[in-house]
Amino acid sequence: MIELIDISYAYSGISALKNINIHVEKGEAVALMGANGSGKSTLLKIINGLISPDSGVYKFDKEEITAKKLREAKFAKLFHQRIGFVFQNSDTQLFCADVYDEVAFGPRQMGLSESEVEQRVNDCLTLLSIEAFKHRQPYHLSGGEKRKVAIACVLALNPEVLVMDEPMNGLDPRTQRWLVEFMVKLNQAGKTLLISTHNLELVQEISQRAILFDENHSIIADMPTDILLMEIELLKKVNLVDEYYHRHEGEHHAHFHNHNYNL
Ligand SMILES: Nc1ncnc2c1ncn2[C@@H]1O[C@H](COP(=O)(O)OP(=O)(O)OP(=O)(O)O)[C@@H](O)[C@H]1O
Ligand SMILES: [Mg+2]
Repeated sequence: MIELIDISYAYSGISALKNINIHVEKGEAVALMGANGSGKSTLLKIINGLISPDSGVYKFDKEEITAKKLREAKFAKLFHQRIGFVFQNSDTQLFCADVYDEVAFGPRQMGLSESEVEQRVNDCLTLLSIEAFKHRQPYHLSGGEKRKVAIACVLALNPEVLVMDEPMNGLDPRTQRWLVEFMVKLNQAGKTLLISTHNLELVQEISQRAILFDENHSIIADMPTDILLMEIELLKKVNLVDEYYHRHEGEHHAHFHNHNYNL
């Protein structure tokens, strides 16, 4: 479904991605992990066609995606219907006067009738328990509320591939839990998921496979998530865990605390 061949990218001389090779099959759920600045968001932007790589080839469903093709309105529209993107920063994603119009934007672009649009918007608002914000200005919502609206916008498009950049950030525990379960359901329903996250506790619930970036913007590991989580030395090396990180034997969860710290 997604094929990245030897992709590199730099922001006016500042390297962000170096020789990235990734192949994601339809229906996979893949996590992108790595320290701050390792290149996760840049890669997700390339996959969503927001920026084009300096070198290398990006193929979506076997077709090469180029800046030239994305400038063709018809091609871009079809492409963006098939792949939905939840940005790391919701402010860059929300621009309408009220939440209803924000979530309706995608379905309207798809050419659905206004009654179909209404149905879809209401379904998505209900799903995220944000019906009460329907007529609020997205700009004035709290950070977590904005993220829920951003997620509703993407779900309203019902894309085949969902790309989410740190979707759990800033959400309260109950909403995080809901989102994890929802992502699992989406994946079981056949959606391809690509999710960047620093959340080591939830990552193995949402992905079978994890791709790990090092701080030099290259891929250092691509393996089953549960196996990667046991590679403590590797996680330390890429600055994803600190010296206090450990796992309880026989238990799936991992957490941080210092054994020498008595309260
Ligand atoms: N618009 C930009 N202009 C210049 N440099 C940028 C820009 N966006 C990102 N960078 C740089 O590119 C590198 C990769 O950034 P990116 O945002 O992809 O990292 P990330 O892995 O998503 O980090 P985080 O975990 O903090 O979200 C970093 O060194 C960053 O400073
Ligand atoms: Mg990022």
